Amino acid sequence: MALFRKKDKEEVIGLPENLPQHVGFIMDGNGRWAKKRGLPRTFGHREGAKNFKKIVRYCKDIGLKNISFYAFSTENWQRPKEEVETIMDLFREYIVDVRKHLSENTRMIFLGDKSVFDDDLREKMIKLEQDTAHYTEMNLLMAVNYGGRDEIAHAARLLAQQVKDGTLDPADITEDSISENLYTKGIPDVDLVIRPSGELRLSNYLIWQCAYAEYYFTDILWPDFTSEELDKALIDFDGRHRRFGGV
Ligand code: FPP
Repeated sequence: MALFRKKDKEEVIGLPENLPQHVGFIMDGNGRWAKKRGLPRTFGHREGAKNFKKIVRYCKDIGLKNISFYAFSTENWQRPKEEVETIMDLFREYIVDVRKHLSENTRMIFLGDKSVFDDDLREKMIKLEQDTAHYTEMNLLMAVNYGGRDEIAHAARLLAQQVKDGTLDPADITEDSISENLYTKGIPDVDLVIRPSGELRLSNYLIWQCAYAEYYFTDILWPDFTSEELDKALIDFDGRHRRFGGV
């Protein structure tokens, strides 16, 4: 049984005092989930996508404000064609579906270079971003064709262009100006990263934004990651003493 929930805010009980401003999810373990059952990897991604929808809904119910999901990295294109195509089809289906499922007031933002996607998918992403740009209850960020180093290189190019145009003095480049040129512009830094499946690494996910993040690792595979497990991560986060380099 989940600790806090559910259908409407009136029923939410026992929320920890310090909820993270931004929770980043690394949806890992889909392939292993399928393999354990003797199924093709693509089945694991289907289950992973279903679980994404459930977890997003729960995050909204308990009032999280910013949630991000690592859905596809710049390196994931190296996977077998069939697997990549399945993931693209799941994006087509779920990014539209998840919006309906969340009802109104959720802003959707896609992090990464969208130019490489098929026209129909890219247009869907851009339209969702435009249609939801004014919503304020929750920001749902999905990292697609995303890499943290790639994002920082992209920001550097934007800043260099401003210098070239004569609108920016190099001496005025600060941490804030770099943040302002990332895909996450205007979104608070990640303060809790959740990675299921037993891997203990960040894998190039929001590396700038995770500079002071806390981490929660679990052996559970992403398709099996439940709202109860998220509760545990939030309670754990609530108990951490964050010093940000101080004492
Ligand atoms: C990592 O598991 C997962 C991915 C690279 C893709 C994530 C995609 C989804 C959850 C499906 C589509 C998502 C949405 C939001 C509609 P893995 O394949 O590396 O698993 P493994 O480490 O067990 O092989």
